[in-house]
Amino acid sequence: MKIKGSVALVTGANRGIGKAFAEELLERGATKVYAAARDAATITDPRLTPVALDVTDPAAVAAAAAEFADVAIVVNNAGIASGNLALSAPLDVARNELEVNYFGLIAMTQAFAPVVAANGGGAFVNMLSVVSWAAYPVAATYSASKAAAWSYTNAARQQLKTQGTEVVAVHVGPVDTDMQAGIDIAKTPPADVARSALGALEAGRPEAIVDELSRNVKSTLHDDLTLLYPALETQFAAYLAS
Ligand SMILES: NC(=O)c1ccc[n+]([C@@H]2O[C@H](COP(=O)([O-])OP(=O)(O)OC[C@H]3O[C@@H](n4cnc5c(N)ncnc54)[C@H](OP(=O)(O)O)[C@@H]3O)[C@@H](O)[C@H]2O)c1
Repeated sequence: MKIKGSVALVTGANRGIGKAFAEELLERGATKVYAAARDAATITDPRLTPVALDVTDPAAVAAAAAEFADVAIVVNNAGIASGNLALSAPLDVARNELEVNYFGLIAMTQAFAPVVAANGGGAFVNMLSVVSWAAYPVAATYSASKAAAWSYTNAARQQLKTQGTEVVAVHVGPVDTDMQAGIDIAKTPPADVARSALGALEAGRPEAIVDELSRNVKSTLHDDLTLLYPALETQFAAYLAS
């Protein structure tokens, strides 16, 4: 779909990838961008329309959908990540990740589906990850939340198609934001993620695979697990040794 002339809403728009999404939407000609954040005061760009929204509060999400009735594009970006091992991840941490990354995305999709439909069909852009496909042992419960969000995205895409709504799934490895602060690895700039995702939306593609890592991981998915998991196990062994 064309972004120029449309109205968009981005969750978690105060920093990181969400901020880059808001800026790229303006760059591509969106007439209004609702920049949603838990604390609306953290939205400082005067070109954006600040909105207070915690995606784990279903009543607030429903109220936002009722109030911002001109939205045609929703970017489900808000997310949290913990670095926990599968056998020791605290249950409350795992639940919190699901609350934001999975249930938050469901609440936003259900609340805004009729809104985007009423504005010409519209679209959802869902910020997923390479770990939606390949579980990283040092982020076990985060990976599970992103896999759940990917599965839900694929199901929602099929249903939303019947009302003329597009869904773009965005997959990327490490991105240079607070989420990866202090981790010394190659990282994609947030602006590249937003450009790739919104480029996919404008080209009518259901998926944006942003970086080489995600392309490589996806290319192994049609094969048996013996191709992918030995490499991850080698990385894990190096992590344990360090
Ligand atoms: N960075 C990466 O390597 C990477 C890779 C692949 C995918 N992703 C995904 O990309 C998205 C953005 O990540 P990021 O790297 O930009 O992370 P970030 O810099 O940590 O920013 C996370 C954003 O989500 C918001 N948020 C957290 N909980 C929320 C809630 N309950 N309701 C509303 N907003 C909430 C944060 O708001 P506050 O400022 O209020 O905390 C912040 O704006 C996430 O979904 C993440 O899983 C990130």
